[in-house]
Amino acid sequence: MCGIVGYTGPREAYPVILKGLKRLEYRGYDSAGVALLNNGLKVYKKKGKVADLEESLIGQDVHANIGIGHTRWATHGEPNDRNAHPHLSASGRLAMIHNGIIENYALIKKELLSKGYTFKSDTDTEVLLNFIDEIQHHNECSLEEAVRVALKRVVGAYCILLIDKEDPHTIIAARKGSPLVIGIGKGEHFLASDATPIIEYTKEVVYVNDYELAIVRPDELILKNLGNEKITPYVTKLDMDLAAIEKGGYEHFMLKEIFEQPKTIYDCLRGRLDVANGTITMAGVENYMEQLKNAPRIIIIACGTSWHAGLVAEYVIEDLCRIPVEVEYASEFRYRNPVVNKGDVIIAISQSGETADTLVAIEKAKEQGAIIFGVVNAVGSSIARASHAGAYTHSGPEIGVASTKAFTGQLAVLNMIALKIAKAKGTISDERYKNLLGELEAVPEKVETILENAAAVKAIAEKYKDSSDALFLGRGYNFPVALEGALKLKEISYIHAEGYPAAEMKHGPIALVTEILPVVFVATKDSYHEKVVSNMQEIKARKGRVISIITEGDTISPTLSDDIFAVPPADEVIAPMLSVIPLQLLSYYVGTAKGYNVDMPRNLAKSVTVE
Ligand code: AGP
Ligand code: GLU
Repeated sequence: MCGIVGYTGPREAYPVILKGLKRLEYRGYDSAGVALLNNGLKVYKKKGKVADLEESLIGQDVHANIGIGHTRWATHGEPNDRNAHPHLSASGRLAMIHNGIIENYALIKKELLSKGYTFKSDTDTEVLLNFIDEIQHHNECSLEEAVRVALKRVVGAYCILLIDKEDPHTIIAARKGSPLVIGIGKGEHFLASDATPIIEYTKEVVYVNDYELAIVRPDELILKNLGNEKITPYVTKLDMDLAAIEKGGYEHFMLKEIFEQPKTIYDCLRGRLDVANGTITMAGVENYMEQLKNAPRIIIIACGTSWHAGLVAEYVIEDLCRIPVEVEYASEFRYRNPVVNKGDVIIAISQSGETADTLVAIEKAKEQGAIIFGVVNAVGSSIARASHAGAYTHSGPEIGVASTKAFTGQLAVLNMIALKIAKAKGTISDERYKNLLGELEAVPEKVETILENAAAVKAIAEKYKDSSDALFLGRGYNFPVALEGALKLKEISYIHAEGYPAAEMKHGPIALVTEILPVVFVATKDSYHEKVVSNMQEIKARKGRVISIITEGDTISPTLSDDIFAVPPADEVIAPMLSVIPLQLLSYYVGTAKGYNVDMPRNLAKSVTVE
């Protein structure tokens, strides 16, 4: 979880790197730094945002045609100037940046200390760098060979970029578990954690795979494995454009991405959903339809918001396809000794496609014979490439740390998968199938309607922005939406919020209810509605403050609510794609009302590529 950028070619490297770091800052923003190679190595780095680094470099000599840059999300060593990347080797000859965690760094550090090495930082990165330096010195080998030897000894995840004062045009890069994309220019190469810093210069990219090492010069890209065997780089063309990663006039990426949802949901359905002919076209599903419809069990593996999407999918798939579904936190699944039977299908859900816990969890399930179906947003990402089949959500780059449009894109894909399986299995009537196709098709327009009323959510946010806690309650399909609403509020406004099944509230949380605790009910009209209304009454009886997300035309809930927000009617299977929108807006408006940087909330990063 950090941003990595490298450049070698005829341009001035510093502006390319700086702009690239700004595009990647959502991945981590504890500190930032650059190393520039021109008549020696210059390393500039400091705690704070990329803009702070930029300001500190005004007037400095930043001329160079090769350099590397890093925006950090600290794992080893607090965020400060000396722990910022790039790190310099003890010899002063090498500079390196790193995304990931070197798990056996303590053992290696002990070895180096006994050899007289000293360290300027507390990071695992500096240990790896000096380990490489030591190997090169001891074995009297090339830097490339020293990197290969070192990485064979390393346990953990890495994407590293390395430059050598004595080799003024070459960047050595390697990855395992953390992403690396190389942009192919004319007589120049760009390296980055994802494609957003590269897209404005070239659309030709190479996604580096685990255990691969790249030697990159202005007019040469050599790819090898750790066994020193050459690999032919597989060049693909990026399908995003620059506009997609700019703010487009919105104050924050998060607001832009919330308001993009009518289009991104439409883009997700386009080319797949054909209501007139009653078909859903998804090659990944069709190619594995036998395995999917005969699966003894489906295990959904994900983290955070993607896990919430998985929870909605559990209700949908069990309801429509009658296949047992389990939803697993990736970090829990990978470390316990899970039972995975041959024929089980794993659905891995991930916006970034780089979440370390999800990636390792599916690799583990794959070893046990499971089929991996990836529901991913980032094209060409590690999880997409580790899956046997999959479906992209086509939500476009999601820059805001809080996942919004990716969540509704995930629900659209998961609903289509469930409908295709149910149709193939015959566990859904033609009438209900056709009805749900039509409901899906109507979602973009209904989301548009909801967004037109965003000001009403902003008014509610103003009322409750100083709350210290909040409860989000829902039943059935809306229970995962309640969890998602709580997560959004937590991560964007730092208010402690908890999502809970509405019925469960009586088994403890109702003790929290006071005249000042806001209780948000996700209470759209569905088969659970009467029960949810009873839960509202239980809160009102204790003078709780009720905010209700309801269906237009509901006349009961408003009598029990202090504030309401109505969404258009929809089948309960589809309703989560609507009821989540006001909750996304609520967290955004509370966060901005409190003056927080909602695109880069404290302590967070967009893509958790470390454990
Ligand atoms: C969601 O708002 C959070 N930023 C976070 O929980 C995120 O959903 C989680 O880290 C999973 O990321 P992924 O979808 O990229 O795997
Ligand atoms: N583990 C390294 C550090 O703590 C890299 C963290 C990152 O991926 O940003 O500095």
